[in-house]
Amino acid sequence: MQMISVKGLVKDFGSFRALNGLDMQVKAGEIYGFIGQNGAGKTTTMNILAGLSRPAQGECNVNGRDVTKLTHPGDLNIGYLPEDPKFYPWMTAQETLVYLSGVRKTGHIGDILRWTGLMEAQDRRVGGFSRGMKQRLGIGAALIRNPQLLILDEPSSALDPEGRSEVLHLIKELKNMGKTIVVSTHILDDVERVCDTVGMINAGKMMFEKPLAQLQKESAQPLFDITPVSSVRPEILDEMKMLPGVVSLTKTAKAFTIKAVDKEVSVSVMGFLAEHGIVIESFSLRKARLEDLFLQEVNGK
Ligand SMILES: Nc1ncnc2c1ncn2[C@@H]1O[C@H](COP(=O)(O)OP(=O)(O)OP(=O)(O)O)[C@@H](O)[C@H]1O
Ligand SMILES: [Mg+2]
Repeated sequence: MQMISVKGLVKDFGSFRALNGLDMQVKAGEIYGFIGQNGAGKTTTMNILAGLSRPAQGECNVNGRDVTKLTHPGDLNIGYLPEDPKFYPWMTAQETLVYLSGVRKTGHIGDILRWTGLMEAQDRRVGGFSRGMKQRLGIGAALIRNPQLLILDEPSSALDPEGRSEVLHLIKELKNMGKTIVVSTHILDDVERVCDTVGMINAGKMMFEKPLAQLQKESAQPLFDITPVSSVRPEILDEMKMLPGVVSLTKTAKAFTIKAVDKEVSVSVMGFLAEHGIVIESFSLRKARLEDLFLQEVNGK
C-alpha cells in the first residue's frame, strides 16, 4: 500500500522555483530516507506533505488524503518533527508532552516517554537537555496523536555519534511498531543504517528512488580514484568513458572517479592514461558508498 504518492509537485517562492515537478512514492510501513544537498528542497517538500504549505501545482496524496485540499493541517493525522524543534526550557519533558497534547487524554504519555528513552529524565527541565534528548522529545511530541506516518526533518544531523545512534534506534523501533517514517538527512551513513528506500532530491526534482539493497548492489562495482598532476582535457575524459568496462566517470575539483564493472578494468584505464601521456599523482581502488551515487547524480555521469 502507498502511504505517500506525489506527482509533479511545483512550489515557488516569488520568482524562485524550489520544487520543479517532484515525484515521490512512499510505501506503508517503510523507512524512507530523503536525501539531498542543502537547499535541494527537502524541507519544502516535507512541509507540503504535512499540509503546512501548498504547492502551486501537482498531486499530493498522504495516507489516502489529498493534502492540497485540506482546510486544516490537523485533519491529517501525521507526526511532524521540524528541522529545529523548540520547547519551553522551564517545562519538564513530561509537562511538555502534557502541554502539547492539549485537551487530549494523556494516558499515552508514559508510553511516549518510554519509547523515546526519556522516562528517567521526565521530571528534568528541557532547558538542560542535550541535543539528542531534545530531538527524542521532538519525536515524542510527533507521536502524541499516535499517527501512522511520521515526517522527520533532519532528526539526527546536529547530533554526535551517540545521539545519532539513539535517534536511529528509536526510528527503527517506530518502524517495528508499524509506523511509516520519512526521514530527511544529508548524513548518508544514517541512511545506510536504517532506511528501506532512498529518494534523492536535487534542485527540486527527484533524481532517483530506489530500495537501499538495490543501491548497495549497484555500488558493489569498484571505483578508481584518479588524481592527475594537471587537469585533463574534457574530450580525453569523454574518451575514457567509452573504454570497455567503464560504467561512469565523475569529475570533482582536482580528481575524477571511474566506476568499472570489475577491478581488471584498471589495466586498460592505466594503459589509456599512459598512451595519452597523462601523469598521475595517485590511482586508487575502493568500494563505492552512497556518497558516490550522490555525487554522481549531482555532478552528472
Ligand atoms: N520561505 C521561503 N522563502 C524563500 N525561499 C525559500 C523559502 N523556503 C525555502 N526557500 C528556498 O527554497 C530552496 C529549498 O529550500 P529547503 O529548505 O526546502 O531545502 P532543504 O533541502 O531542506 O535544505 P537544508 O538541507 O539546508 O535543510 C532553497 O533555495 C531555499 O532558499
Ligand atoms: Mg531543510
